[in-house]
Amino acid sequence: MKLNQSAQDELKKAAGKKAAALVEEGMLVGLGTGSTASCFIESLIERCRAGLKITAVSSSVRSLDIAKAGGIPVRSMDAVTSIDLTIDGADEVDSKFRLIKGGGGALLREKIIASTSKQMVIIVDESKLVDTLGQFGLPVEIIPFGYNATITKINRAGYMGTLRKKQDDSIYLTDNGNYIYDIHAPSRFSEPEKDHDTIINLPGVVETGLFFNLPLRVLVGRKDRTVDFIT
Ligand code: A5P
Repeated sequence: MKLNQSAQDELKKAAGKKAAALVEEGMLVGLGTGSTASCFIESLIERCRAGLKITAVSSSVRSLDIAKAGGIPVRSMDAVTSIDLTIDGADEVDSKFRLIKGGGGALLREKIIASTSKQMVIIVDESKLVDTLGQFGLPVEIIPFGYNATITKINRAGYMGTLRKKQDDSIYLTDNGNYIYDIHAPSRFSEPEKDHDTIINLPGVVETGLFFNLPLRVLVGRKDRTVDFIT
């Protein structure tokens, strides 16, 4: 049974609410990016309005704007060396809890925040659970300087893709002023650590959307409308 858009939105809201319930008084919370993370932020705003006292750091300008508009006190990441709990979405999750992220273009800040977090909860719907990563493709953040040379190096390493563009055909810019090269599906990353190492070592590549070794739990929203952790 495939869910329609409004059922999927309801599921994201339910998952966001369940994730927001994990936040405890006094925590410094990492805010993820994307439509699912936005549902979490909206639920967190409700809890803050009801009296919860927390501070937050944001993985994107988009999430920062939502949090600030809702009255969540947001700190600059520049002064932070440890985050109590981060809640974010993902594009794909495999059985070893390795992730592909970056569909929303925030992968670099998301990875900095994730790797600074004592705990992380990823919220996804079950369509994002995969046996092998790669069906979504792989977003890679690259610096603008010499980007065609960097893309050529990525291609020569065996990964073909597309430079991310906006609707008006101008090049998409990340919050860091960089570009995103989307490695095409159906690349299959059966050893994603090796793929990450190959790509990240190319000059001009800033970060890949492959996330590993995080202290994370995965909260899954299912078609039957249940939202539970998987182990
Ligand atoms: C943002 O850069 C991404 O990593 C998102 O977390 C990911 O794309 C999931 O987004 P949705 O929750 O909108 O599917």
